[in-house]
Amino acid sequence: MQSIQAVRGMKDTLPNETPTWRDVESKLIRKITQCGYQEIRLPIVERTDLFNRSIGEVTDIVAKEMYTFLDRNGDSLSLRPEGTACCVRAALENGLIHNQTQRLWYMGPMFRHERPQKGRYRQFYQIGVEAFGWQGPDLDIEQLLLSHSFWKALGLEQFIRLEINTLGTLPERQQHRAELIQYFKQHESKLSKEARERLETNPLRILDSKDPEMQDLINSAPKLIEFLEPASLKFFETIQSTLKSAGVDFKVNPRLVRGLDYYSHTVFEWITEELGAQGTVCGGGRFDGLVELIGGKSVPAVGFALGLDRVVDVYLAHFEQIKQPVDVYVVAVGEEAERKALLLANKARETGQVVICNTGGGNFKKQFERANKSGAQHAFVLGETELKENFFGIKDLRGNGPERKMQLDLFLAEGDMRQIDLRKQHL
Ligand code: HAM
Repeated sequence: MQSIQAVRGMKDTLPNETPTWRDVESKLIRKITQCGYQEIRLPIVERTDLFNRSIGEVTDIVAKEMYTFLDRNGDSLSLRPEGTACCVRAALENGLIHNQTQRLWYMGPMFRHERPQKGRYRQFYQIGVEAFGWQGPDLDIEQLLLSHSFWKALGLEQFIRLEINTLGTLPERQQHRAELIQYFKQHESKLSKEARERLETNPLRILDSKDPEMQDLINSAPKLIEFLEPASLKFFETIQSTLKSAGVDFKVNPRLVRGLDYYSHTVFEWITEELGAQGTVCGGGRFDGLVELIGGKSVPAVGFALGLDRVVDVYLAHFEQIKQPVDVYVVAVGEEAERKALLLANKARETGQVVICNTGGGNFKKQFERANKSGAQHAFVLGETELKENFFGIKDLRGNGPERKMQLDLFLAEGDMRQIDLRKQHL
């Protein structure tokens, strides 16, 4: 029978990869919780309307990339393509937004039916943060500094750079949009087919086009910054000057608009040159209008999400895969020894060690091969002689430490923690 393969664009994360993922995740989560963000766990499936309303019906994500299906009740549901809309929905539904401030974070898989390539998957993983109730720009700055601290924590600071932009307020954008449509209409013959389609629906996205034929046209297009009122300019200025005093390098990219409709004021992306076309490892910004769109009273909000698949890829371009640590491998030959070995391993785990007990038999040679392969630092050795004389051997598998002995019965009875603390070399 033909074997069944994974769905295209959805990959397995294998045991040799998961320790690196966990390590990266825990460093990021530590940084997030250091800022006082609290975890929220969200469903993977939501009502399709939630995304239509929030991300924007004319965005690529909603128009082309959603995994949408009818469930058995005939309700239209979608696998979440991102976490922000879900987080707002959950926070609203559970009374976490109004008349209070809130810092939330989440982690998990997201789904987009994009064309798979390196760094772009149909199931991918994000860690995201969302803060509600602060008019800013202090929260925008806090999150920019938080995301910057990620790269420091991972040792990737010099490989990832920051681009920021401001999208102003809705009225400012509407005025700019009208001018933009007029400008592109005047030059319609120079627009690509895709750009022409976007002209009425989402003209801002034309600015995002990589089409070399349109670059001159895009460069001379009316810029949003020309339509910003003093308050919006000041907001953006505060962000830039604080980043400078914090020593965070950044570039203002007036063409940074992002692929979701809900942003206002600050938008930003962290980008690496190391992943080819899929270089954005983290992105976000302010989304003051979204809570209202989803059905609440207007609440200012700001957030970002980091693409774990991409961050792990950049990490592995510079560092070795992290291995799951093993402290002890218990080698035991003979029926009685094998049985005792299980008890010995169990007791040793109480000391906090990672202990693999040999199972499935084998002679000493075979078992030591397995012990070496496991990556264990030490082997506990239990054979007929050891049993007869009531001890077990402790062998240093990685260095030249002397072979030691420990009294078996006493250890099994009392589990002498101090003596067995291998990491502290108390042997
Ligand atoms: P986004 O820019 O669509 O923003 O996604 C955030 C990050 O997820 C990207 O920078 C990228 O690293 C990763 N990502 C996106 N699509 C894929 C893919 N197909 N394969 C692998 N990685 C991918 C959002 O999702 C917003 N919800 C961010 C946000 C939070 N804004 C405010 N709060």
